[in-house]
Amino acid sequence: MAGSAAKTKSDSGGEAQEDSKTALNLRAIELVRARRSIREFTGNKIPDEHIELILEAARHAPSPENMLMIRFVVIRDDQETKEFLADIAQEMAETAFGGAPFELTSGRNWFIADPYRAAVYARMRDGELFRYPEKSDAVIIVCASDSWHDAGYLYPNELFGSVVAGMAIQNMWLVATDLGYGCGYEALVCSDPRHAELIRDRLGIPPIWTPLTAFCIGERISARALGPSRVPLEGLMYEERWGNPYKRIAFKKEEK
Ligand SMILES: Cc1cc2nc3c(=O)[nH]c(=O)nc-3n(C[C@H](O)[C@H](O)[C@H](O)COP(=O)(O)O)c2cc1C
Repeated sequence: MAGSAAKTKSDSGGEAQEDSKTALNLRAIELVRARRSIREFTGNKIPDEHIELILEAARHAPSPENMLMIRFVVIRDDQETKEFLADIAQEMAETAFGGAPFELTSGRNWFIADPYRAAVYARMRDGELFRYPEKSDAVIIVCASDSWHDAGYLYPNELFGSVVAGMAIQNMWLVATDLGYGCGYEALVCSDPRHAELIRDRLGIPPIWTPLTAFCIGERISARALGPSRVPLEGLMYEERWGNPYKRIAFKKEEK
């Protein structure tokens, strides 16, 4: 698919119209855009084959020298642990969002229209919104290590481990999205080192492995209608040098 996309681009001589057609047809872009954080699950089971397809995607994450310094604890049956994680997430959300005045953080929720914004914020403050591990089919505790190593060169694994974990999670997220399931990245459970320690103890995670998140997969109650939009390319990219505004092709052409 990527090959045909590249062909269209060069054949079209870079025509903007052709480019946008290509973007619309690209399955990868479609999935990237469709992926959303889902925090409300039905609690229904997902077929084992689907979960395994999603896990399979994690295996394909790129990593330095293919070392894959990541491990996953896949929790499906242990409802008590799911509830334990939900309790931690709620407590942490109360700490994180409960103390800040609504006015300070409501700006980031600009995409939610008044008067719903205050209601959504209220759910963040009481932490209910973050109890979703208890209704997920699979809660995956993603771990990375900064010392697990089988290469001669000592890579800065602390950083690399998180990068590789991020790539594995995104792979799973896209496959789950394609299958019609929802996913939530529950970092709240591991944000406080004391909580991370509790999780480590409960699940028997050895000291060299650090739990980063509870990545939750479940049957979603509904597709997400609203979600945080993203800043345009100009807000994230620079051209050639830091600070040099990046200009999209469409605008470059207008100047000619
Ligand atoms: C490193 C990281 C940490 C996050 N922490 C949490 C979290 O603790 N709880 C949660 O519900 N969502 C969490 N998220 C999800 C973000 O809130 C979400 O991706 C962002 O608001 C954009 O929304 P979208 O995923 O629907 O596009 C996290 C995402 C990342 C990448």
